[in-house]
Amino acid sequence: MCGIIGYTGSEDVREVLLDALELLEYRGYDSAGLAVKDAENGEIKVRKCAGRVSDLRAICASEKLVSTCGIGHTRWATHGGVNDRNAHPHQVGKVTLVHNGIIENYQELIADYELADELASETDSEVVAALLNHFYEGNPAEALKKTVSKLRGTFALVVMFADQPEIIYSTRNVSPIVATLCDEGAMLASDLTALCRFTNRYFVVPEYHILELHKDAVILKDFEENTVEPEFLTVDWELNSAGKAGYPFYMEKEIMEQPDAIANTIGNRIKGGMPDFSKDGVPDTLFTSCERICIIACGTAMHAGLVAQALVKSILHMHIDVEMASEFMYSDPVIDEKTLVIAVSQSGETIDTLEAVKYAKRRGAKCLSIINVKGSSIARESDYVLYTSAGPEIAVASTKAYTTQLSVFYLIVARMAHSRGVFTQEETQSFVRELQRTPDVMRKVLENRRDIHVVAKKILSAKDLFMIGRGLDYSILLEGSLKLKEVSYIHSEAYASGELKHGPIALITQDTPVVASVTQEKLFSKELSNIREVKSRGADVVIFIKENLSAKLEGEYEMIKLPDMQDEFMVLPASVALQLLAYYVSSDKGFDVDKPRNLAKVVTVE
Ligand code: F6R
Repeated sequence: MCGIIGYTGSEDVREVLLDALELLEYRGYDSAGLAVKDAENGEIKVRKCAGRVSDLRAICASEKLVSTCGIGHTRWATHGGVNDRNAHPHQVGKVTLVHNGIIENYQELIADYELADELASETDSEVVAALLNHFYEGNPAEALKKTVSKLRGTFALVVMFADQPEIIYSTRNVSPIVATLCDEGAMLASDLTALCRFTNRYFVVPEYHILELHKDAVILKDFEENTVEPEFLTVDWELNSAGKAGYPFYMEKEIMEQPDAIANTIGNRIKGGMPDFSKDGVPDTLFTSCERICIIACGTAMHAGLVAQALVKSILHMHIDVEMASEFMYSDPVIDEKTLVIAVSQSGETIDTLEAVKYAKRRGAKCLSIINVKGSSIARESDYVLYTSAGPEIAVASTKAYTTQLSVFYLIVARMAHSRGVFTQEETQSFVRELQRTPDVMRKVLENRRDIHVVAKKILSAKDLFMIGRGLDYSILLEGSLKLKEVSYIHSEAYASGELKHGPIALITQDTPVVASVTQEKLFSKELSNIREVKSRGADVVIFIKENLSAKLEGEYEMIKLPDMQDEFMVLPASVALQLLAYYVSSDKGFDVDKPRNLAKVVTVE
């Protein structure tokens, strides 16, 4: 979950590393550090601290130094508390190292190789540095291979050796590393956002290989010393799209980008008004040969899956499960060759989802994944990939990744419905036409964001809050509630409205605001009864409502009116409105919206 960077080239390395670490900070922001090779005397100098990259920048600013080779790290603590000592890089003997991942057998290694006296921190990572130093006799590749053979767990290691010239070494298992060679030098990082400033070409470092970064070359070898040609990929993200573009927070920028992100995601996949995955290489047989569907994902991505589940049930009448990836393998899932597994992930690196995909494939299932980051681990593990075109998502709270995932699900449902004979061509085209309205409808929600800001101000001081809805509204609120709790720290629970009276209604008081979502015409009157139940118990209620349903409640309730779409599609405008609610509450409370406490963007530990 940590951010890693390495660079050797012609630029001032500290600037390169600090800028990149700022872009990677969403992967972890407990502490930050860098190590650079001093050009004057060849010494490797480590600077690190608990806190943010800005704190590290301040430390570096007070020191003059010429260097063009170095490594850096932002930490999301796993082993050992948040303090300067536990920050990376770790230096033991001739080895200076940064690590992302978890070493499960670090205590055994300390005992087996009598490393205890060499350790200054409580981290598993420093143990790797000590072990590497133990094996190092002047040949970096040999020492890395010996070290890796002793490690159990996941790791991306980036290393400098004191007696080697300005070369950076790296190897990995599971935890990602991407690298590039460009005019300014050679560079690697735990994800591409850090490379985008320099180039749009990159390659994924394969597992159990050794990468050397030289100023004018990258050398990749397998563990048998065979040279391997890196497989370069191109990212279509704009070089500057990882910046904030004048917004105070990435989350706001990313919310605002959604109409374009959706248009880009669906645009190339509609031909003659029909959903078309031929450019993605996804055959119709994938959709016609399966007997059931299983969606695997975590967090927000899983919430996208829940919306898809409701659509598949109501339109395709198929058996579909949505599984939390972290529970999947331990729940004896019903998976076989007749199951179409759909994995959903923004980063493509969430380890629970990755492991679940591997498990499903071992059981014979075909796996289609919906991913935002090209070439990521889950994408490479899947049989087929549908990439979302959200561009880099930097804010920890996912927004545009979620709605672009939804848009892909709408296309999948339409394609499946047509290929399985549920929809006629005309019905499919009409469904797709409604989806194509989404960017404009979302723009309307965004134009009216001030109204949502007004509502947000009313819940700033709430400690607990309920979100209630039925059917698809409940699915939307699970995501709306997650968004609110993670960025505003208000305890928010999404509840199926009808279920409220079976227990949780005991918690409703005048101090418990309730957000209701009312976008499903057929559930309107039942939903209204549930809203009245909480109102009569003193709760302040605000309703996010489909515009054409709102007239009946005028004057009775505070409402945020959502532009009309067909009921199945109301998830899209409603989600944007709920994201804005969470955003405004968090920013009005003065929080660092993009970096909520304890969280990291990419979850690469189980
Ligand atoms: C919440 C959030 C997380 C992620 C989850 C899965 O805003 O971002 O819940 O959705 O960690 O991440 P990905 O989609 O990268 O697999």
